[in-house]
Amino acid sequence: MRDLHAGAGPADGTTFTRDWFSRCIPAWRDLLPRVMPRPARILEIGAFEGRATCFMLETVLPPDADGEIHCVDTWQGGAEHAGIAMTEVLERFRANVRATLRRCGRHRVITHCKPSAAALLGLLGQGFAGRFDLAYVDGSHQAPDVLEDLVLAFRLLRRGGLMICDDYAWQRQAPGAEDVLDTPKIAVDAFTTIYRRRLRLPEWPSSYQVALVKTVE
Ligand SMILES: C[S@@+](CC[C@H](N)C(=O)[O-])C[C@H]1O[C@@H](n2cnc3c(N)ncnc32)[C@H](O)[C@@H]1O
Repeated sequence: MRDLHAGAGPADGTTFTRDWFSRCIPAWRDLLPRVMPRPARILEIGAFEGRATCFMLETVLPPDADGEIHCVDTWQGGAEHAGIAMTEVLERFRANVRATLRRCGRHRVITHCKPSAAALLGLLGQGFAGRFDLAYVDGSHQAPDVLEDLVLAFRLLRRGGLMICDDYAWQRQAPGAEDVLDTPKIAVDAFTTIYRRRLRLPEWPSSYQVALVKTVE
């Protein structure tokens, strides 16, 4: 993984109004070279303005080989995005990806503008089972949706592939009024428990995200 992404912002042609990703970069820089140094095909569930997409284009996909990222998003937002103009978010995503691809021309971004279950089932139907090196799961934060995303994305991942689940420790409600079904944690815990003989949890310095490696088809 190259050591850059300092310049995201107007100078490189990208514009982001929210940044939920930069805080994850140190842990990704620690994990990826050890576990997934040269991913060629990436699945991203939940792309928003493309903050993580642009980082993965520039610093995770190898610069000397063809790579592709499949971005899945409804671009309608979740319950936690009330008040955000999602049409403008989608326009910014497209512009950010265009600007980044001008520097990373050999890579491709394939956009799936639909609910994740439909998109992932579609990819499975097109023969992509076991064809992804890396899956970044950051779509709906509702526990049933997250569980569905994890199960389907795991099928798309190859053996040895890496999955990173965002917002493990995220909570929308105030302390004391938490709704366990309105957060990814219970789904990630259920998934990693039930699939524990098919995956391993690599050591890494993040408690906010969960990383897992698929060990068995
Ligand atoms: C937290 S944002 C993603 C942030 C992004 N990874 C980044 O780096 O900035 C979550 C995204 O998931 C999308 N989303 C929510 N529910 C979804 C679903 N069921 N299917 C597909 N996308 C969904 C929302 O539209 C939103 O853009």
